[in-house]
Amino acid sequence: MSTKPTLDELFENRMNYPDFEPQARLARLVGLDEQKQRLTKVLGLLVNSAGLSEWAKKFHPGSEALLETVLRRPPLVVMAGDVGSGKTELAETIGDAVARQEKIAITLFPLSLSTRGQGRVGEMTQLISAAFDYTIEEAQKLKSREGSSRGAVILLVDEADALAQSRENAQMHHEDRAGVNAFIRGIDRIANAQLPAAVIMCTNRLNALDPAVRRRAAEVLTFNRPNEEQRRYILTRRLGSLKIPPSILEALVKETGPREGNVPGFTFSDLSQRLIPSIVLDAYPTHAVDPRRAVQIAHLMDPTPPFQDHVS
Ligand SMILES: Nc1ncnc2c1ncn2[C@@H]1O[C@H](COP(=O)(O)OP(=O)(O)O)[C@@H](O)[C@H]1O
Ligand SMILES: [Mg+2]
Repeated sequence: MSTKPTLDELFENRMNYPDFEPQARLARLVGLDEQKQRLTKVLGLLVNSAGLSEWAKKFHPGSEALLETVLRRPPLVVMAGDVGSGKTELAETIGDAVARQEKIAITLFPLSLSTRGQGRVGEMTQLISAAFDYTIEEAQKLKSREGSSRGAVILLVDEADALAQSRENAQMHHEDRAGVNAFIRGIDRIANAQLPAAVIMCTNRLNALDPAVRRRAAEVLTFNRPNEEQRRYILTRRLGSLKIPPSILEALVKETGPREGNVPGFTFSDLSQRLIPSIVLDAYPTHAVDPRRAVQIAHLMDPTPPFQDHVS
């Protein structure tokens, strides 16, 4: 593939907001209220600056210079944290909250770098450049001269570990560097043209984040494994209908927490995609869920190991 990928090849799964499906998925995310709020606010400003102008007109007339500073923020939000902590799920659904808040239509262009750009030299760079080309093209159509924009685009660059990697890392290949440069160029193009577009980058490796990328981030949101209260909430909500005694639920909350020898607790996806299905499938189809078996299953299950960051 040496020619530029088409829009459909690059973004097969474009999503449009508002829509009830992402709205429901967003509502199902537990313990991310702070991230949701900050993200909605930041993205709202990035894709539709009219809201801030109206606010200023009302509360601080004559504050154009101040507004300029806020509006000049680069159109990038970085989400960083362990695998299975809800980054992709939040990135794919937050557009719904922003669309409803700003009362505009938003389209998400999702690009996952773990499944793309593994091929020949130069492919990653070409993908990144093409992704920004399409994002900018679409945003230009939506920009209006006066007042609020008619719509907005969010570009999601998911599984961007290779791109997040610091350029200061000596082992980095030229090709990787070219990808980072293409990404930075894309961010700057959107910023300079003041387009109704924003970029979300998701990565598992916050401490290796490229300084030039970090500098351009309006916000860096971090994601952690669920704490005791969040695990209790998920387990109670998902297993509540099975009439599991409170003492057993507490045992499950404990079993899924951090263990001896510096082993971290279960991730959100360990709970919802591994533990709970295992408990159900263990009983199916011959008998009801045995609460004590459930605790045993949790005990025998290993949590996903933390992401190994080889770059120091
Ligand atoms: N905060 C959360 N609340 C509820 N479920 C979650 C949460 N975070 C993740 N999950 C579950 O774990 C799955 C994997 O999450 P994902 O967003 O793909 O993780 P990441 O992108 O951070 O690796 C999601 O589909 C969801 O079912
Ligand atoms: Mg992900």
